[in-house]
Amino acid sequence: MVGIDQVLEKLSTVIDPDLKKDIVSMGMIKDLELNDGNLKFTLELTTPACPFNVEIEEDVRKAIDEISELKNFDMKVTAKVMEGRSLEADTAMATVKNIIGVASGKGGVGKSTVSLNLALALSQTGAKVGLLDADIYGPSIPLMLGMKKAFMQVEENKLQPAESNGLKVVSFGFFAQDSHQAAIYRGPIISGILKQFLVDTDWGDLDYLIVDLPPGTGDIPLTLAQTIPITGILVVTTPQDVASNVAVKAVAMFDKLNVPLIGVVENMSYFICTKCDEKHYLFGQGGAMKISEQFNMPFLGEIPLHSGIMAGSDSGKPIMITDPDSPSANAFRKSAKNIAAQCSILAAKLQEEMKSETSEKESETSEKESETSEKESETSEKESETSEKESETSEKEQAPEASTSN
Ligand SMILES: Nc1ncnc2c1ncn2[C@@H]1O[C@H](COP(=O)(O)OP(=O)(O)OP(=O)(O)O)[C@@H](O)[C@H]1O
Ligand SMILES: [Mg+2]
Repeated sequence: MVGIDQVLEKLSTVIDPDLKKDIVSMGMIKDLELNDGNLKFTLELTTPACPFNVEIEEDVRKAIDEISELKNFDMKVTAKVMEGRSLEADTAMATVKNIIGVASGKGGVGKSTVSLNLALALSQTGAKVGLLDADIYGPSIPLMLGMKKAFMQVEENKLQPAESNGLKVVSFGFFAQDSHQAAIYRGPIISGILKQFLVDTDWGDLDYLIVDLPPGTGDIPLTLAQTIPITGILVVTTPQDVASNVAVKAVAMFDKLNVPLIGVVENMSYFICTKCDEKHYLFGQGGAMKISEQFNMPFLGEIPLHSGIMAGSDSGKPIMITDPDSPSANAFRKSAKNIAAQCSILAAKLQEEMKSETSEKESETSEKESETSEKESETSEKESETSEKESETSEKEQAPEASTSN
């Protein structure tokens, strides 16, 4: 009769293409039960947005099919997003598994449009997603979501995010009494506002929090990098050299601050002609690829230049909602899956680093313990030597007495 070892051996031949590890050692097999040839378990994938979820599930089924002695097989497939940030170091936002900062060098490359549609694409896979509009000088997310009248409440000293299309949304735009009112604040106040939006908001359990940053390397991107541990930075650029050459500066800043780089998405990459159906690279090619090579970070997707994307943003009806089967929505979906996969890879790396740190600390402790016990045994040796000497001395002292008594 087939045994659990045999089942696990078969399952460990299935490799996660992103994490390059077998699914058993990654802990993806849960609640395994094997009774009299009836096999049951849960396959827990690392994110509902993984681009290889279908492939992994098929590989598992094929592997189990190869065990001929099984009578019945029942598999439940779930996904639990991995923690891509050091939550121990961040008790303030411990319920947010991943924080993704969306940055660019130049303004107007489409960060807000990309942040919003990626957040929606991730949410549509079943993940719990938040969107923080960190552009305090020029918040555009409320407009892009058609949330002009939304407001945020404060309960028990915590900001309650607004909700739209399944996203939890926070934006300075909800606070401005008049949408034309300018936010005239100096750096420290701006940093303070962002910190509050991050740590004083009741985000609840989130798999991904997307933070739409203003362009460049100012106070806001710097505050994000230095306030809390984040999963990493997603760079948005357009193909032109004028955009990618400036994006390099922003990337270099985060790199210098040791913030992980998730990858780069190229926006307005090409235009599909409705008449000839061909891709036209209006702004040239290769801008994002150049950054990806220079900083050794993955190229995660290209989004077409399309009037529907622009119209969706302007009218408060994002294309991921109004036209989810369009080529533009598909491009966002593909990029979102690649981003989720990169987050899982960074999470696995983080787990390994934490494991090796723990085992280093344990081995240091055990070294110290063995040093202490060596010292203790040396001390006890010395003590026993001393007591031997003392007893010799006392014997000698007693001896003359004995001789005198004789
Ligand atoms: N792929 C696209 N196709 C067509 N229009 C786009 C696309 N991406 C963005 N846009 C349009 O370009 C303009 C700028 O986009 P967006 O506001 O998202 O850029 P941004 O980088 O966030 O700007 P800022 O630096 O000011 O924050 C908007 O009008 C938006 O609708
Ligand atoms: Mg913007």
